[in-house]
Parts: sequence; structure tokens; C-alpha cells
Amino acid sequence: MELITDRLVINKFTESDKEPWWQIEKNFEVRKYINQKPLSRVEAANYVSAAIESYVINGYGRYAVRDIANLKLIGMCGFLLDEMGIDFGYRYCPNSWGKGIAYEAAKEVFQFGTKTLGLSPIVAGVHPKNVASEKILKKLGFQFKSKVNFMDQKFLKYEFH
Ligand SMILES: CC(C)(COP(=O)(O)OP(=O)(O)OC[C@H]1O[C@@H](n2cnc3c(N)ncnc32)[C@H](O)[C@@H]1OP(=O)(O)O)[C@@H](O)C(=O)NCCC(=O)NCCS
Repeated sequence: MELITDRLVINKFTESDKEPWWQIEKNFEVRKYINQKPLSRVEAANYVSAAIESYVINGYGRYAVRDIANLKLIGMCGFLLDEMGIDFGYRYCPNSWGKGIAYEAAKEVFQFGTKTLGLSPIVAGVHPKNVASEKILKKLGFQFKSKVNFMDQKFLKYEFH
């Protein structure tokens, strides 16, 4: 799996992404609208391991998003099987925010998931204050379903069929 956009290369996480992933997820700002808990080095490594396992078990997973200029890991976008179903999610290092990067990747990965892999339905949970994230879901065609309790907070649940 490899997707190329104007500014990005999107492919599978590998073992060597564990350390750079921790550099992203140890930042409170990145976790602010998730659970406000920066990841430890071990937790970040486990996240990458779970993505790699998911490619094998489910045929999809969270994917690494890299800067096309130097292949540096800048974030992730992809699918995760959890208790709510197939979740679509994304997270990026703060210096890539506000440039249309998240939507550029989301459009490509979402099309890959729905058209190439045939995934459906797909769910997404977003913190009510996470305006940028909610905009991305709406632009992809997600519909608001309900308010749900997630990690002791109220989240907005979106679905795509
Ligand atoms: C949420 C996140 C993925 C957005 O990434 P991004 O690259 O800045 O998003 P984009 O530049 O593609 O912008 C998407 C839309 O949100 C808007 N937007 C971007 N930042 C915004 C902000 N701070 N406030 C309001 N709108 C914002 C953009 O203008 C764009 O809207 P448009 O389509 O109307 O032009 C990024 O901030 C992030 O990684 N946050 C931490 C992790 C996280 O919260 N992930 C999502 C969990 S549900």
C-alpha cells in the first residue's frame, strides 16, 4: 500500500517509525482533543506495533503519512477496528497543521478504504471543540449520528455508510 499526493507519501508504518511516532505523540497539543494524555515511548511503540498487526489481521490499519520532500514521518491517517466498529482517524505534528495536509491525506486514504478495500460502515469520534477535525469528516461525507461518552468525555460520533 502506497498513496502519493502532491505533498505526501502515505504507506504502512514500520518498526523504524516507533521513535518518530513518539516524538509526535509525546506532545500534549497533539493529544489535547483526544484524552489529554501524551504517550510514553512504550505506548507510542505499542501503537505502531498494533498498526502493523492490523495490516495482517484486518487488511487495513492506521497508515504513516510522510513529507514527500524527505519522507519524514509527520503523522498518521487510517482505520482502526475498535468497539464502535471501523474507526477513521488522523493525527499530525503541530508544525504541519493549518496547511491542508490533514485533508489532503484524509481524502486519499478514505477513498482507498472505501473504494479499494470496500470498508463500510466507518465511524469517527471527534471532540466538540476540534473544529478542524470535524470539518474534515464533513467534507468526506460523514454524517453526525449522536453524542457518545468516550474516555470519560462527550464526543460527537460520525458515521459514513
Ligand atoms: C485536527 C488536525 C488533524 C487538523 O489538521 P490540519 O492539517 O490543520 O487540517 P487542514 O489544514 O486539512 O484543515 C481542515 C479544515 O479545518 C480548518 N482548520 C484548520 N485548523 C483550524 C483551526 N485551528 N480552527 C478552525 N478550523 C481549522 C481548515 O481551514 C480546513 O477547513 P476548510 O476545509 O473549510 O478550509 C490536526 O490539528 C491534528 O493533528 N490535531 C491533533 C490530533 C487530533 O486532534 N486529531 C483528530 C482527532 S478526532
